[in-house]
Amino acid sequence: MDNVIEVHDITKVYKMGEVEVHALRGVSFSIERGEVVAIMGPSGSGKSTLMNMIGCLDRPSGGDYYLDGVLVSSLTDDQLAVIRNKKVGFVFQSFNLLSRVSSLANVELPLRYAGVTSGRRELARQALESVGLGDRVKHRPTELSGGQQQRVAVARAIVNSPAIIMADEPTGNLDSKVGQEIMDLLLSLNKERGTTLIIVTHDSNVAAQTGRVIRLIDGFLDEGANGSKPKSRIEPVEREQTRQEKEAEKGSEL
Ligand SMILES: Nc1ncnc2c1ncn2[C@@H]1O[C@H](COP(=O)(O)OP(=O)(O)O)[C@@H](O)[C@H]1O
Ligand SMILES: [Mg+2]
Repeated sequence: MDNVIEVHDITKVYKMGEVEVHALRGVSFSIERGEVVAIMGPSGSGKSTLMNMIGCLDRPSGGDYYLDGVLVSSLTDDQLAVIRNKKVGFVFQSFNLLSRVSSLANVELPLRYAGVTSGRRELARQALESVGLGDRVKHRPTELSGGQQQRVAVARAIVNSPAIIMADEPTGNLDSKVGQEIMDLLLSLNKERGTTLIIVTHDSNVAAQTGRVIRLIDGFLDEGANGSKPKSRIEPVEREQTRQEKEAEKGSEL
C-alpha cells in the first residue's frame, strides 16, 4: 500500500486569549496515492483546519502527519513552506487569483516560490494548455468567466506537478454546469497523472464522484479508525477569512 497521506491522532487547539478551541480532537486516517477523497461536515467541524494541516499551511498541536513519507508535524516553518510548494497544489472556492496580472503570470507564481529559475513561462503555458486555456494566457482574471478563472487556478495548482491537489469548495462559486466542468477537469487530472485529489465540499453531487468521503463532526472523524463520538459542541467563531485564504493572500503579495 502506498499512502501519500498518513494522519495519526492529530489534534488542533486554537488559543483565543483564555479560551481554547479544539478544532481537531484526535483524527486518524490515511489516503493512498491516486485516491479521490471528499471531506465533508457541518460548518465549524474542522474541515478547513484539517485542510490546512494536510496542505502544510499549519502544523497540528499534537499527533503525527506524514506527507509522502515526510513527518510534516516536526518540520520548521521554512521546511513546511518548501514541502508545501513541492507537494501540494491548492484550489479555492473564490479562485484567489491576482487580478492585475495575466493568467500566465498567475500560473507562474508557484514556480517562483519553488525557486524555479528557468523555463517558468513554458511550464505555465503548458499547464494552461492542459486545462483548455491555451488561448487565454494573456487574459487577466477580470477578463475571464468564473469557470475560466477556476481553470487558471487549477493550472496554477498543477504547474509544480504536486503529489496532491487540495480543493476547498472548488465548485462553490460556480453554477452547476460549470462546476461539473471543473469537477471533470480535476477528475481527469487524477486519472491521467495519478494526482491525489482531496476535495472539501458541501455538495453531495461532488462527493458522489469521489472514491471516499471523510466526514468530520465537531473535530472528530465520523467514521473509520477513530470513530469516537463528540463530547460537546463548540460554537464556531465567525471569522472573515480562513487561514488558507490569508496565506494565499500573503503569498500573492510577494
Ligand atoms: N485561526 C483560528 N483561530 C481560532 N479558532 C479557529 C481558527 N480557525 C478555526 N477556528 C475554529 O475551529 C473550529 C473549526 O473551524 P474550521 O476548521 O474552519 O471548520 P470548517 O472548515 O469545517 O467550517 C471552529 O470552531 C472555528 O471557529
Ligand atoms: Mg471551512
